[in-house]
Amino acid sequence: MVSDGRVRTAVFISGGGTNLQALIDASAQGTMPSVELSLVVSDRPNAGGLARAEEAGIPSAVVVPGEGFNARLAEALTAHRIEIIVLAGYLRHIPNGIVTRFAGRILNVHPSLLPAFGGKGWYGLKVHRGVLERGVKITGATVHVVTEDFDEGPIVAQKAVEVRPDDTPETLQERVKVTAEWQILPQATQDLARAVRAGRKDTL
Ligand code: GRF
Repeated sequence: MVSDGRVRTAVFISGGGTNLQALIDASAQGTMPSVELSLVVSDRPNAGGLARAEEAGIPSAVVVPGEGFNARLAEALTAHRIEIIVLAGYLRHIPNGIVTRFAGRILNVHPSLLPAFGGKGWYGLKVHRGVLERGVKITGATVHVVTEDFDEGPIVAQKAVEVRPDDTPETLQERVKVTAEWQILPQATQDLARAVRAGRKDTL
């Protein structure tokens, strides 16, 4: 197959995949012209996002934990000639070998303004519960480059979201997704792909 010059991108998920959907929609709308969504990887066979991939015609690979996990993951990326990786609600640690192989080419979206409410154990609704318990008035979302430590790589995009007095963890989670995550993740993915294609990935 002849490449059209877009950057072959894998999206890793563990759950419902609404951020994956935001990437699919951005791709369909033409706002990620440098990105080709080439593979969806899930660590769970029942991840809701797999149906979104199928609907969009994107190949998927279910790579469950267990013997040979790192090698199976690496093989899937090789087989699909993946150049960049986007973690969109992927709840597993990325093997160091893959972090090294894709240095500077893996993005993660996190539902807070890092470094607040980040690191090991801070994921999903726990983040929004923590925000409400602490009483902060502004939260948001962050896209960062993935390094070997959870949520610690260089930050490439952030967007703030107001916390309302009547928020529950669920209403806050929804507002952070809609108004922040789904906006900054496609933009950051496009920016990385353009930089990679231009041979400027180190500028991030
Ligand atoms: C998002 O809040 C994302 O920031 C976090 O996990 C959640 C995934 O949601 N890393 P979805 O599966 O994209 O709906």
